[in-house]
Amino acid sequence: MVIFVRRKSKIYNMIKLVIIFLFSLLTSSLFAQDIQLPTPDKKGGKTLMQALSERKSSREFKEKELPNDVLSNLLWAANGFNREGKRTAPTANNRQELELYVVMKSGIYFYNAREHKLLLIKNGDYRKSAGTQAYVANAPVNILFVSDSGKASGKNYAYTDCGFVSQNIYLYCASEGLATVVRGSYDKKALEELLLLPASQEVLLTQTVGYPK
Ligand SMILES: Cc1cc2nc3c(=O)[nH]c(=O)nc-3n(C[C@H](O)[C@H](O)[C@H](O)COP(=O)(O)O)c2cc1C
Repeated sequence: MVIFVRRKSKIYNMIKLVIIFLFSLLTSSLFAQDIQLPTPDKKGGKTLMQALSERKSSREFKEKELPNDVLSNLLWAANGFNREGKRTAPTANNRQELELYVVMKSGIYFYNAREHKLLLIKNGDYRKSAGTQAYVANAPVNILFVSDSGKASGKNYAYTDCGFVSQNIYLYCASEGLATVVRGSYDKKALEELLLLPASQEVLLTQTVGYPK
């Protein structure tokens, strides 16, 4: 009798574990989560002169998503930390007022550069809202440049700082054979509402990235 009860509770426990496992599998596939990016590969890529030769704007993208290692390299190249407390792109007076949001099929993420991690802000596909040109809805990645006026050394410098990050993205894409275009074509107010930005923060530029068609 004791053996039978023990065996029964073992089976119940196993069933419970299987249910929990299946449930977590289902929810993780339905709902996006934070993404811990792998360590960026800082050794690869074309030479700087080759990348400069191939830098260009492209507006046709495959639907194919970027794997996490490519996403990791892209975001690190764009505005990651490359030494203690400082980044791949300069900012006036080292204010580091610029942060990146990433709009993908699975959701909208904040790029936490210090932890090299994508923090989920919104679950779901908002790519269509990332710009006013048709290709943004199909491209796998739209990057939003969000500047904090409370930190920046003035608006002119804030815009200038965006240019460095954009060129970093252009050069990484040229080096990796990815397609990209920087964009001023987006509904600023709608995007700022979508991101629930505080009054001090605004979207100053956007950039689309994906595989060329
Ligand atoms: C600040 C800025 C805003 C831009 N906005 C857009 C845009 O909204 N849509 C677009 O298709 N291209 C946009 N572009 C890309 C330019 O059209 C492109 O850089 C230009 O035609 C030169 O082509 P290239 O980048 O291939 O040299 C923008 C470029 C810059 C620098």
